[in-house]
Amino acid sequence: MITKRTQVGIIGAGPAGLMLGRLLMEQGISSVILETKTRDYVESRIRAGVLENGTVELLKDAKADYRLKKEGQTHNGLEFSINGQRSRIDLNHFSKGKSVIVYGQTEITIDLISTHIGSGGEIIFNADNVLPNKFDTSKPNITYQHNNINYQLDCDFIAGCDGFHGVSRLQIPIKDQTIFERKYPYAWLGILAEAPPPSNELIYATHERGFALFSMRPPSRSRSYLQCSPDLDLNKWPDTRIWDELQTRLGSKTESPVCEGKILAKGVTPMRSFVVEPLRYGHLFLAGDAAHIVPPTGAKGLNLAMSDIQYLSDAFLNFYKNNSTAGIDNYSKKALSRIWKTERFSWWMTSVLHKIENESSFDNRIRLTELEYLLSSEAAMSSLAENYVGLPF
Ligand code: APR
Ligand code: PHB
Repeated sequence: MITKRTQVGIIGAGPAGLMLGRLLMEQGISSVILETKTRDYVESRIRAGVLENGTVELLKDAKADYRLKKEGQTHNGLEFSINGQRSRIDLNHFSKGKSVIVYGQTEITIDLISTHIGSGGEIIFNADNVLPNKFDTSKPNITYQHNNINYQLDCDFIAGCDGFHGVSRLQIPIKDQTIFERKYPYAWLGILAEAPPPSNELIYATHERGFALFSMRPPSRSRSYLQCSPDLDLNKWPDTRIWDELQTRLGSKTESPVCEGKILAKGVTPMRSFVVEPLRYGHLFLAGDAAHIVPPTGAKGLNLAMSDIQYLSDAFLNFYKNNSTAGIDNYSKKALSRIWKTERFSWWMTSVLHKIENESSFDNRIRLTELEYLLSSEAAMSSLAENYVGLPF
């Protein structure tokens, strides 16, 4: 067994773990990031790509915004399509000058990894049997194997940034966790295509046949989704069927039709809402998808992970620079307050735009009326805009 030492041991090299490592390093706090997958795998996962201002600011602090500045697309509005009727919400107007940036999460991961390694940060990919230990004491450690050698990483704190299926949450005694969960009876079939999107802004569509979303990966690709059954058989969805269904759910062929092109990736994403409380167990802190999941309607997953990391890195900084435990003591409460507001918004966007099987005529009318109200009320559009551009970090 080889023993190593760092200040903060980070489990997981997704956006949360990478951002934490970057921010700590910028403040002179050491960390080691342990990741079970290969660098190639981590750098090719496709996820949502709508960034709130708080996320953009953190990428700047992390010195990982050089490509974002050039390639990110500012979006000042978004569209809703209701049974083919399109309406736009001016995000900029209703949020008093704010906007979102469209830039793929895959690119963010690539940028964070290259900045971190380029500035001497340590990320161990392909780490096996990663395990947080003794985190109920002030001398926790993480054991793992790499290239068949056993390691023990001694640290002051462990950050569990290992996503929903990670090991950190599983090590916390069940009796100490409270779990809140909702599963949705539908999923998304997502495609990435070599074709321009139907509009230069995102379109959230609801239709008698279900939800569809038209997004993009600048400069030239479209990213689109169809509400589908969680057990959808991809073999029954050849490209022509996907394009036809996207066009049907968007509606009228005359107004900016769906452009077809080569489909580069296809996949089914399940939908769930999940929160574990609290986020701190002794010297182990959960952040990002390890602690909470939102359904993707509203694109909040990455942004929520980033606000956790802002609070957690500030807490560690306060500890190391000011010798104060106030930040780490308050981390869970502070992060959960924003998490629940974002859970609410993501649940609401999801519920109002998706059609459940056997939806009653009453429920259908209420849902459509909610959307009609949204698109006709300045107060409702302001509320949507405030949440979509992101509540303050
Ligand atoms: N040991 C080490 N690493 C692990 C382990 C483990 N036992 N289990 C999982 N991991 C790694 C995963 O391989 C992944 O790279 O932890 C990382 C977690 O990354 P994400 O799942 O991306 O979670 P997070 O960083 O919290 O990102 C939040 O980004 O990925 C999206 O859907 C996610 O939008 C959300 C946001
Ligand atoms: C995406 O571009 O992948 C995307 C955009 C907005 C969402 C979800 C996903 O709400």
